[in-house]
Amino acid sequence: APTLKQAAQARGVLIGAAVNSALFDDLDPDYADTVAREFGVVVLENGMKWKTLQGTQGEFVYGLADATVAWAQQRGLAVRGHTLIWHDSAPAWLYQFKTAPEVQAAMKSHITNVVTHFGSRVKYWDVVNEVVSDAPGHPLRANSPFAAAGPDYIDQAFRWAHAANPQARLYYNDYNTEGLNGKSDAVYALVKGLLARGVPIHGVGFQTHVSSAFSVKDSGMLANLKRFRDLGLDIQMTEVDVTLPASGATPANLARQAQVYRDLVGACLSVKCSAFVTWGVNDPSSWRAGGKPLLFDDLYAKKPAYGAVIGALQAR
Ligand code: G3I
Repeated sequence: APTLKQAAQARGVLIGAAVNSALFDDLDPDYADTVAREFGVVVLENGMKWKTLQGTQGEFVYGLADATVAWAQQRGLAVRGHTLIWHDSAPAWLYQFKTAPEVQAAMKSHITNVVTHFGSRVKYWDVVNEVVSDAPGHPLRANSPFAAAGPDYIDQAFRWAHAANPQARLYYNDYNTEGLNGKSDAVYALVKGLLARGVPIHGVGFQTHVSSAFSVKDSGMLANLKRFRDLGLDIQMTEVDVTLPASGATPANLARQAQVYRDLVGACLSVKCSAFVTWGVNDPSSWRAGGKPLLFDDLYAKKPAYGAVIGALQAR
């Protein structure tokens, strides 16, 4: 039987997982073995966020990120960089800056340093993450240190990243934007504006944190992905997880979860997406572990969702 990686490679798509320092945990060798065997790309779940890399102004701490990137490279895995600009991972010191020139200077310095540091080792970057708010009308987020950076800071973030590594593929990344809805409309308008102004953006990441009640069909996901694709942008599913209903890991619930995964992979392939990345490896490693949302269970056994993903990758 093929691995996820082999089945995905045959379709020209990277399959990946968010990883953490469990890769280096000698007491949990199955974690690293599973990642190396099954996936073609990794994302550091927290290890490349601003407060991780530059928690103190001007002091860049690259040790764990470099070790993780080296681990991936030695095993032939690509790396997605996550994320340069995200309000949630801004370090405390950034909040001292209140004027646009100050915040923009800090952003430029951070982006330039990080993207230059990783260079060709990181092929894809989430440049701006979750800037579209969930407030009515989906304005840009106000509760963010970046809100003080002035109206053009999103354009600038992409330009600085592009200047630091012209070969890198640059993404806008967000959640609850998979289907046709007000939020995906706002993201669509945002990226259309970026393109119109000649900003170097190459794709959109759809995080895809959903539940097993999610319906690819009813949400209008195919039409939504297609409109972004029609802008000439690459599509990636960047943080996929599908939580089980509260009644837990019953056979019926696991089958429903598998069906959602099957449909998500199908939607991804239908727009020639370049990557499908799950947000974790085995269920206990998930940020919402209670929902058992991933492809491998507590003991790293393949869940029904695993077979569904392989099946969707093999379907023609
Ligand atoms: O490592 C510290 C530990 O030293 C400390 O004792 C502990 C106490 O709270 O915190 C640990 O850090 C936590 C870190 O995860 C590692 O476990 C942070 O508090 C916690 O906030 C952090 O949560 C992460 C979250 O992003 C915020 O950065 C999640 O692991 C991560 O899965 C989640 O990922 C995000 C994506 O980046 C963006 N999209 C949504 C997605 C889910 O929220």
